[in-house]
Amino acid sequence: MLKYARVTGWGKYLPDKVVTNQELEKKVNTSDTWIQTRTGIKERRLAADDEVASDMAIKAAKDALAVAGVKPEQLDLVIVATVTPEMIFPSCASLVQHAIGAKNAAAFDLNAACNGFVSAVSTASQYIGTGTYKKILVVGSEVYSRILDWTDRGTCVLFGDGAGAVVLETGDGPAGFLSFNMGSDGSKPDILYLLGICGAPANKVDDNHYISMNGSEVYKVAVRSMTKSCKKALADAGLTINDVNLLVPHQANKRIIQAVGKKLGLNEDKVFLNVQKYGNTSAASIPIALCEAVEQGLIKDNDNIVFVAFGAGLSWGASVLKWGTGR
Ligand code: ACO
Repeated sequence: MLKYARVTGWGKYLPDKVVTNQELEKKVNTSDTWIQTRTGIKERRLAADDEVASDMAIKAAKDALAVAGVKPEQLDLVIVATVTPEMIFPSCASLVQHAIGAKNAAAFDLNAACNGFVSAVSTASQYIGTGTYKKILVVGSEVYSRILDWTDRGTCVLFGDGAGAVVLETGDGPAGFLSFNMGSDGSKPDILYLLGICGAPANKVDDNHYISMNGSEVYKVAVRSMTKSCKKALADAGLTINDVNLLVPHQANKRIIQAVGKKLGLNEDKVFLNVQKYGNTSAASIPIALCEAVEQGLIKDNDNIVFVAFGAGLSWGASVLKWGTGR
């Protein structure tokens, strides 16, 4: 019999440094009004100069383990979703595994940009579903401040740094992940990319290592793909939109989130939003949002929670989680 992967622990870490829109007005030709109207973002957090992805991941991971009551040595696997690790290898996950003392765990990183967390929990759930592993730590940790061109107003106002983590444990249901829907369209790599360090594609004349993005193209695919993915994941779980208690979407842009909520027919109070405080923290945004939704008392046992994300690739995914820690 297939097992259900329950979320039993959650944690988050946001760097102390707050950067407001007003501060960005002094760096680039932008305005608080433009940023808030187009994105909903008021401020974001930026990592300290000496702070890297694994530092933030470790802090979020320790909190998630404490909430779950799971000892690090009980973990079978650590997955870190990130595109901003301090090293290509060893993986950020291996650094985290060692630092938290998860000496019996396997570890690997997963790159699906802003869709990293949904991809990582879907991967972890397969291991739990088949009975291969029983306790898995999934972390999203990003320091986009290091891959932003701080003279490009089209991108630098959108992102922030942070980390979020969850512990997944095996259960017999009914709580746990009920379904996943994942997709990708790699036909337009030019609309959102970051060059690697191992040679550039032939058509690229730029040689920087900053995010390059055609915002309006990304916007269109984001709304379409997130809406479709949610509908498919709900149908696969045997649920309808009326059964959804809370949508916890990737926090890229308030307008995108509201458009998806509207297309799905969800009331605004069922759509979690915290992009105003943190900007887009990529793979960290959903676990950070989940933590805050729990802290705010918005989630109770047997609620149907939907995660949905999109990111570079382009790649997208949705999952339906029946909440319940089993405690
Ligand atoms: N301040 C002031 N003006 C700006 C700024 C800024 N920060 N940025 C762009 N503008 C200007 C543009 O130059 C343009 O001016 P023009 O009309 O004179 O040419 C005007 O504002 C409108 O630009 P648009 O790009 O059409 O604005 P839009 O309404 O599409 O909003 C935005 C831009 C916020 C980027 C939106 O398209 C968006 O959110 N797209 C999705 C981006 C996203 O979510 N990316 C996530 C990446 S996920 C990952 O995996 C990394």
